[in-house]
Order: sequence, then structure tokens, then C-alpha cells
Amino acid sequence: MKVVVIQGPNLNMLGIREQQIYGPMKLEQIHQQMKDFAAQNGIEVEFFQSNLEGEIVDKIQECYGDANGIIINAAAYTHTSIAIRDAIAAVGLPTVEVHISNIHRREEFRKENMIAPVCTSSIVGFGPFGYHLAMVGIMQIMNEIKNLSGAAVLF
Ligand code: DQA
Repeated sequence: MKVVVIQGPNLNMLGIREQQIYGPMKLEQIHQQMKDFAAQNGIEVEFFQSNLEGEIVDKIQECYGDANGIIINAAAYTHTSIAIRDAIAAVGLPTVEVHISNIHRREEFRKENMIAPVCTSSIVGFGPFGYHLAMVGIMQIMNEIKNLSGAAVLF
């Protein structure tokens, strides 16, 4: 089974940007931990980061027929991008949304979320550990889908 991890704008700056909000961990370190955990569980994982909305849409579309699940932190596009939302809905794959910070207790504009309604679930406010939780969650969902031969339970 394969999971694609999609990272949006400025997440390549983790470890440098606003450390009081996002912490000191770099994206490569987060990805290494996810990769190790995925390998221990026999899951193939691919990582993709882009600062460009259209590239993120392209990557989500590429997941169709190639991946069994998506983990996405759309970063600032979470709050604005109908195109990313539509792409997630179009491919119809189980998708877990991650936010390092708790977007619900930050600025008002971060409470607007275009992505969450088309995702299976959202994990917010756990720092970089949220990516690990997302990996555990997507593995659980993918297994349920496999065992139910295609019919996903919607909680
Ligand atoms: C973020 C929250 C977004 O509001 C912000 O634009 C980001 C990161 C997070 O992971 O907490 O770039 O998605």
C-alpha cells in the first residue's frame, strides 16, 4: 500500500520559520521519521512539497490509481484553495489533513478551511507529531477499506 505525503507552501522552511509556532524540526527530519515508521509497517511512502497551488493540484491528481491514501498539509492554501479541495474530492482517496499548529486558536482567517470538508479527518495542534498520528490514522483507514473490499465507513 502506498501513501503520498503532500506539503504546501513554506513548509520547506520548517526549522527556520516562526519556531515559536512550528518548532525547530526540519521537514526532512519529519519525513525521515514517517519513512521509518512506514517501512516498519510495510507501507510505501512518497513525499512532495511545493509552494505552487497548481503543482499541488497536479500531484493530487497523480495519486489517482497510484496511491491508496494521502496525507496533506496544504498550509496557507488550506484557507483559500477551492482548486485543492476539488482535486481531493475528485480523486476520492482517503485523505488525512495535518496542521502543525492549532489553526482554530490562531488568527480568524485561519478558521476558514476549504480542505477539511473533503478530507477523511483532520489532525491539528500536535506539532510535528501530528504527521505520525496522520500516518497511523491513514494506515487504519486503508486497512478498513481493504477489509471491507472498497466500501469505506464514514465516521
Ligand atoms: C499550517 C497552518 C496554516 O495556517 C499556515 O499557513 C501554514 C502551516 C500548520 O501546519 O499549522 O503554513 O498549515
